[in-house]
Amino acid sequence: MSSMKPLRLAIVGFGRVGQVCAELISLSHDLGLAAIVRRAASAGGKLPETLRSIPVTIHIGQARDVDAALICVPTNVVREAASQILQHGIPIVDCATLHGEALHTHKDTIRKMALHHGVPAIVGAGWDPGALSVFRSWFALLTPGGSTETQHHAGTSLRHTTMARSVRGVEDALCAEVRANDGRVQRYVYVELEKGADVDKITQAIRADPLFLGEDTQVFPVENLAELEQEGRGVVLDRRGSPGRFGHQHLLLEARFDETVLTARIMLAAARALLQLEPGAYALTEIPLSAMWGERAENAHRDWL
Ligand SMILES: NC(=O)c1ccc[n+]([C@@H]2O[C@H](COP(=O)([O-])OP(=O)(O)OC[C@H]3O[C@@H](n4cnc5c(N)ncnc54)[C@H](OP(=O)(O)O)[C@@H]3O)[C@@H](O)[C@H]2O)c1
Repeated sequence: MSSMKPLRLAIVGFGRVGQVCAELISLSHDLGLAAIVRRAASAGGKLPETLRSIPVTIHIGQARDVDAALICVPTNVVREAASQILQHGIPIVDCATLHGEALHTHKDTIRKMALHHGVPAIVGAGWDPGALSVFRSWFALLTPGGSTETQHHAGTSLRHTTMARSVRGVEDALCAEVRANDGRVQRYVYVELEKGADVDKITQAIRADPLFLGEDTQVFPVENLAELEQEGRGVVLDRRGSPGRFGHQHLLLEARFDETVLTARIMLAAARALLQLEPGAYALTEIPLSAMWGERAENAHRDWL
């Protein structure tokens, strides 16, 4: 049931978040990808097969039929990008990684520009800030005067392994223990290799080490360990109400996720809500949930109420 015209979005900055946004838009029924706006230096870069028909421009003004723009550039240039897009009267969503006072100031700046051009803007609409801010806010609302503890962790608990790193040809290594379905423990060793290193030899050397001997050890060469560490992040949000006459309330959120994917999802949800908003700037906590469901709002209402 898709009676409405798809909302046409431009993606500004085609990095990790921008690329996942593009993929999710192409999988959706109610959203369309109008254009990808890139820096001149990367505009000539190859796009994945499925996106070859999408216009790539170096300025938002060259893109046609854009209902809203998703700003996916580094946080320090978000404001500049926002200013250019708003000047064209195009509503925006950003996921700038700013918190507290800094996010407040950012929102204030965007609000002035958005009001001037008569369009709505949603700021800090990612995972954190974004969805996690909403959870935090709900937890606090339910337990006023309580205290929140937040722990961030790597979802797969990767740790550095000096043993694997000491093997010749290995630049750096991370190790994770994974429990297979039958309860066996497997060890995954991710290695960043020096140029021309022999993967088989290195695998054998790691497996033969007394530390790993007799264990089911898999060795995976990867391009970039730092990126791997970023993936599969996790968080525990633990909120305890203040003790007293209303009894003990204890709320717990344990989440493991790919931050890029969740951020892209939130940006699309926020974009769906844009058309219902008056000109101005909004944080995710100020947007009705039902608006973010878009055309699925009625079903969501039935399913989750
Ligand atoms: N709220 C959250 O939870 C959350 C989570 C993840 C990320 N973020 C934010 O989302 C944004 C994008 O993150 P990402 O991981 O996708 O970063 P990324 O992979 O580094 O991608 C950023 C892209 O922006 C463009 N770019 C780079 N430098 C630029 C510059 N100086 N001026 C204009 N454009 C530039 C590039 O795209 P082109 O080559 O196409 O120009 C680049 O690929 C960041 O602001 C990040 O802080 C927020």
